[in-house]
Amino acid sequence: YGTAAQNALGHLTVGGVDVVDLAREYGTPLYIMDEALIRRNCRAYVESFRQHYPNFDVAYASKAFLCTAMAALAEQEGLSLDVVSGGEIATTRQAGFPMERTYFHGNNKSPEEIRLAMEVGVGRFVVDSTRELHLLENMAAERGRTVRILLRVTPGVEAHTHEYISTGQLDSKFGIPIAGGLALEAAREALRLSHVELTGFHCHIGSQIFDLEGYRIAVQRMLDLAAAVRAETGFTASELSMGGGLGVRYVEGDRPVPPEELVACLSAAVRGGAPERGLPLPKLIIEPGRSIVAEAGTTLYTVGTIKEIPGVRTYLAVDGGMGDNIRPALYHAEYECAVANKLGSERTRRVTVVGRYCESGDVLLTDVPVAADVAPGDLLAVFATGAYNYSMASHYNRFPTPAVVFVSDGRADLVVRRESFAEMAANDLLPERLRAGAP
Ligand code: LLP
Repeated sequence: YGTAAQNALGHLTVGGVDVVDLAREYGTPLYIMDEALIRRNCRAYVESFRQHYPNFDVAYASKAFLCTAMAALAEQEGLSLDVVSGGEIATTRQAGFPMERTYFHGNNKSPEEIRLAMEVGVGRFVVDSTRELHLLENMAAERGRTVRILLRVTPGVEAHTHEYISTGQLDSKFGIPIAGGLALEAAREALRLSHVELTGFHCHIGSQIFDLEGYRIAVQRMLDLAAAVRAETGFTASELSMGGGLGVRYVEGDRPVPPEELVACLSAAVRGGAPERGLPLPKLIIEPGRSIVAEAGTTLYTVGTIKEIPGVRTYLAVDGGMGDNIRPALYHAEYECAVANKLGSERTRRVTVVGRYCESGDVLLTDVPVAADVAPGDLLAVFATGAYNYSMASHYNRFPTPAVVFVSDGRADLVVRRESFAEMAANDLLPERLRAGAP
């Protein structure tokens, strides 16, 4: 992946930095992010749009991986940001990100979050329900403001992906179905309000998608909706967001579609479909998350106990696990790994890589080949962990969240410090009656 390579010592390097040095300096588990690859992925989207469809916006879906350094990098690359919570808004703001370049998502935004979003000036509210529409109208009216919105709708497209993480079907907690005229009715409602300004429509058809057909169909349905709204109300949507969802390569055999092809596909579908319906070309927006950061991430662990159960299997335990990567336990997600300080060794030993959490399901990789001479104290690298790993980390068993380093051109920069035990307990309070010696 990206700049990953092997040096003369047989060690893994990322961004020109030996990961053995990174482990020594920052400890393990450690999230390593290949900055050059993140930038390359951002540019692949931006440059293809420039070529195919110059009226565009690429909003990085920050839920995939967010810290202030990532927000700043996205800003440098000219990306906007998709944020879904008060926390993501606060981090984005802390990074000095221009808030007018944010899209605020969420199916159940709280009044407090909406207030914060209005205060800091998020660019668009992506409205998920008619209840939110009225909440926004009232809150904007109280402040004598107008807020710009996109309506999130569900085009009823089922993208090929894992059941738990697909959001495009009719039966979804996200968005307003186009089917049954519900989206049309919501648009009508939005246009009646005076403190929300509808700019267009949004959809997100799923995640880890390998086939562009779903996007093509979704564009047609979104344009049908825009045409129906125009015919009924005279309102012309000037923005169309097709969400994120492009798949990445986790293991041998995954065949992701390059960003260029997604952009070409969406551009062609809109360029063909809008004029057919008498619609002007809208600004085309996408929200890639995983495909920007997943392959840029490597998690580095220290190998501990290697437990051989004769005739059954060998468990290789590392110093992290489901707390820093919940995806195998949650989605049966697969990864590849390597013994990072023994890349030259033959990979003839088969092991199941487990973590140190108190749960049998804490398995990171099942029955994978590793260096024959793997031993406690070695470093294990798990690849393509850049998306939905750090951002989905938990404190189960009170393990602190690992540090994150950005590596680039032979340099490493710590961008998230390793959490301390004290920080984990910083919000704990001990009532008087529970203190030692209390009667
Ligand atoms: N836009 C919206 C409205 C979304 O809901 C999402 C992801 C994205 C963009 C970015 O999608 P991406 O390009 O990253 O596929 N935790 C799961 C993935 C959940 C995705 C949720 N929404 C996982 O680890 O696979």
